[in-house]
Amino acid sequence: MSLADLRREYTLASLDVADVDANPIVQFHHWFDEACRAETLEPNAMTLATCDAEARPSARIVLLKEVTPQGFVFFTDYRSRK
Ligand SMILES: Cc1cc2nc3c(=O)[nH]c(=O)nc-3n(C[C@H](O)[C@H](O)[C@H](O)COP(=O)(O)O)c2cc1C
Repeated sequence: MSLADLRREYTLASLDVADVDANPIVQFHHWFDEACRAETLEPNAMTLATCDAEARPSARIVLLKEVTPQGFVFFTDYRSRK
């Protein structure tokens, strides 16, 4: 099997700025409901990405635990750089 031939087509939908809600929390709920309906594995898994003062990025996978109008809640260890 050739690794180069492994490719899945993602042509079911497109993303256009005109189709998304201006409120990111509202848009999140649309996408999260869609992910739950599609029965994806761990739909609340997300990538948490930050960057330091020199703009060097750092990203980790975490589980989303709560969503409020103020933002997204995740749990981690206080010793972690996250
Ligand atoms: C599906 C998935 C969910 C995860 N959820 C969390 C989480 O909720 N909190 C967390 O601290 N780490 C979570 N992790 C582990 C982190 O991605 C990371 O590997 C780990 O916390 C070590 O990161 P650190 O070296 O920056 O502390 C998860 C990993 C995976 C694959």
